[in-house]
Amino acid sequence: LSRESFPKGFVFGTAASAYQVEGMASGDGRGPSIWDVFVKKPGIVANNGTGDVTVDQYHRYKEDVDLMVKLNMDTYRFSISWTRIFPDGTGKVNWKGVAYYNRLINYLLEKGITPYANLNHYDFPYTLEKKYTGWLSYQSVKDFTEFADFCFKTYGDRVKNWMTFNEPRVVAALGYDTGFFAPGRCSKPYGNCSEGNSGTEPYMVTHHLILAHASAVQRYREKYQQKQKGRIGILLDFVWYEPLTRAKADQYAAQRAVDFHIGWFMHPLVYGEYPKTMQEIVGNRLPKFTKEEVKMVKGSTDFVGINQYTTYYIYDPHQSKPKVLSYQLDWNAGFTYAKNGKSIGPRAYSPWLYNVPWGLYKALMYVKERYGNPTVILSENGMDDPGNVTLAQGLHDTTRINYYKSYITQMKKAIDNGANVVGYFAWSLLDNFEWRLGYTSRFGIVYVDYSTLKRYPKMSAYWFKQMLTRKKN
Ligand code: GCO
Repeated sequence: LSRESFPKGFVFGTAASAYQVEGMASGDGRGPSIWDVFVKKPGIVANNGTGDVTVDQYHRYKEDVDLMVKLNMDTYRFSISWTRIFPDGTGKVNWKGVAYYNRLINYLLEKGITPYANLNHYDFPYTLEKKYTGWLSYQSVKDFTEFADFCFKTYGDRVKNWMTFNEPRVVAALGYDTGFFAPGRCSKPYGNCSEGNSGTEPYMVTHHLILAHASAVQRYREKYQQKQKGRIGILLDFVWYEPLTRAKADQYAAQRAVDFHIGWFMHPLVYGEYPKTMQEIVGNRLPKFTKEEVKMVKGSTDFVGINQYTTYYIYDPHQSKPKVLSYQLDWNAGFTYAKNGKSIGPRAYSPWLYNVPWGLYKALMYVKERYGNPTVILSENGMDDPGNVTLAQGLHDTTRINYYKSYITQMKKAIDNGANVVGYFAWSLLDNFEWRLGYTSRFGIVYVDYSTLKRYPKMSAYWFKQMLTRKKN
């Protein structure tokens, strides 16, 4: 593998998100997001970790950009913290926060790293959450559009690659069905979290997220795109769901899983409606787009970011669905990590993450075939090892090198077979705050010593550096 293995113009970079790497969570005027509040609840994050300081990219961005340069990276995918710009979500602008992203973007450009800016990575403003229960309210669509407009206006002269949302499915499913992520709403059968109704809320939230995406894109296209000459897309998580057997019931269960996962977003964006499977199963709990909205939603993406890490086997549970309503139960599919006693692949530290490179190939080919071969960036890919390792152990990450080698090889195979993939982003440059796992999980190609915040490139970083070396001509 080398740069030359990929089409001309193909870019490599790393990805991160504001709350996970910036720190300075209540400094320089930043307001709280739902994550700032969620992580403070006892027992939520491993070892009570928070994003208050994390790897302090807010102050160390220059060092981090220099590292990207050293590793021959082309791009950096980061997110803009909504409450750093508007501490209350709307209204008063926090100019210190605005200035931070100017510094970051300018330094990236000065060093030849192309900025890819994502507008929202889970961190919805807490003030708006309290005011109108966040994404459950249509008002969120309007407020997000104004935040997006401000970012296009302020940074769009330099940022040419925009993304609206990161993994909106995770927001809906984990935030409003299982309650595992902020804002932690759910209902039976998960119990144990704040009020919620997981038979309807995930669908309403997704509906509003799609409308917010489309509305921001519409704003960009009407007011800015021609002049700024950028492009705008969305980032979707895509676990590949492989039928456990050839039995019809298992095949159908896997199709349901895929439709309830990526189809939930890709169908509206490409065809203007939710997948038929979802319409049939969810019935009138599934919101409908008005004629006007269909026009706005359909075709509302210049490219699609696919976050792809892993693959599961799916089977039909062969039993009647429990009476409780929930997004997760709606698709009614069983999943497993093993077939005939053989694991689907080696497990990483995160319990959901198995190394299954062929699943990436299938996922990319599926997007190509089912959705008219859109322009795709592989916007996240990577694996974690445990956090309680010594520096010496952490640096010696041959497992991670193997992971990257085999996944990037599968991506290349998809490109060779016609998939229109134009960029690759490793998750992540640095070890960082991994949501509920806090600092017990390390996804970086660069090790961070959390007591000194010093950065140490791992072997995998040098592997990238080597692969991405530019031939002199
Ligand atoms: C996302 C992910 C990231 C995670 C990464 C590793 O939403 O893009 O949740 O923030 O850190 O996927 O789990």
